[in-house]
Amino acid sequence: MMIKDIINKKRVGKELSRGELEKIFLGYLRGEVPDYQMSALLMAICIQGMSFEETVILTDLFLHSGDILDFSQVSGIKVDKHSTGGVGDKTTLVVVPIVAACSVPVIKMSGRSLGYTGGTIDKLESIPGYQTVLSTEEILQQVEKIGAVMIGQSHDLCPLDKKIYALRDVSGTTDSIALIAASIMSKKIASGADKILIDVKVGSGAFMKTVEEAKQLSELMKIIGKLYGRETETIISNMDTPLGRTVGNALEVEEALFVLEGKEKGPFYELCVELATTMVRMGKNISQEEAFLLVQHSIDSGEAYQKFLEIISHQGGRIKDLSISPHVISYPSPATGVIRKIDALSIAKLSCSLGSGRLTKEDTIDPSVGVYLNKLVGERVEKGEDLLYLYCKDEKIESISFSDIFEII
Ligand code: URA
Repeated sequence: MMIKDIINKKRVGKELSRGELEKIFLGYLRGEVPDYQMSALLMAICIQGMSFEETVILTDLFLHSGDILDFSQVSGIKVDKHSTGGVGDKTTLVVVPIVAACSVPVIKMSGRSLGYTGGTIDKLESIPGYQTVLSTEEILQQVEKIGAVMIGQSHDLCPLDKKIYALRDVSGTTDSIALIAASIMSKKIASGADKILIDVKVGSGAFMKTVEEAKQLSELMKIIGKLYGRETETIISNMDTPLGRTVGNALEVEEALFVLEGKEKGPFYELCVELATTMVRMGKNISQEEAFLLVQHSIDSGEAYQKFLEIISHQGGRIKDLSISPHVISYPSPATGVIRKIDALSIAKLSCSLGSGRLTKEDTIDPSVGVYLNKLVGERVEKGEDLLYLYCKDEKIESISFSDIFEII
């Protein structure tokens, strides 16, 4: 069958065989299938969907296209976490130290992001000196010594997914439950964790716009995890509003430190506690209640905060040199009332326009800029009170559209 026949078959909603999927996807990896044909297939998949069997075959092709890591020599059950992506999503920075402080080993490999906000690795790199690339030997030594590493994906994990993901990003083909499930699960399985927790985001700032879609994605990922012998759990969490108060790389690191110190509570803190509790329960095979007590103790005693500092200094980071732009512009509220909505996507675009995200792979980001929300959803604001602060490169006033971002009633 020719490549265009495979595309046509999917376009009319028929199921592709393993042979057909291998021909087009592996051909694309080898450079034999051009971008325009792969884009056409991806668009057909977005519109027609994929069967469960097709999704599993695609996961398998992604997984076996590169290295599959084995950390079985690390003692203890290693639990990995992944988020389907959100605005101001700094949960990894808070959750990993908590889980490690509860004696569950974590090897966390994160990505950079392409899109409106930085990925976890961009956030960590805002700490001067922080090394995001470690050899397998260094990873093993650090996990044995301090219980956690937070690094980038330096190994050649799932190169086929990497190539396809870059094409999806520019061809309007990210929104497919099957493609997302195969993409996430192949990377998680290749990363060598024993158990996996996925934070599935739903809302205006997320891939999944409805709870129904988020549930479908969750079920699919759990079944794929089971097929590969990796117990997989999911938490569905809201992404209509940004997570926490900050969007921007160094600002988010600073907020993570505040949360670990117990200085900042609220929905972001609650989500971190829920994720950490679930990971500790999975890693120790204990009840959710027992895990919650361990998590609470690790925060209250300062152990989780100390663990974050330990991970940072072990990887060469100098937290005291974290730099946040001194150029701050404050925006007063045009009205008195209660904040009903803060639009996640609009905040992400605003932060990106200041320089905190990249829209092409070649863009460089400014770690010191971003947005600080002085008021959160549900809070009361008086007319003239500061709603948000922009940390900018200079004092140039950014014009922003309040009505696109805030709803005050
Ligand atoms: N995260 C991924 O790794 N892949 C997707 O397709 C979506 C979110």
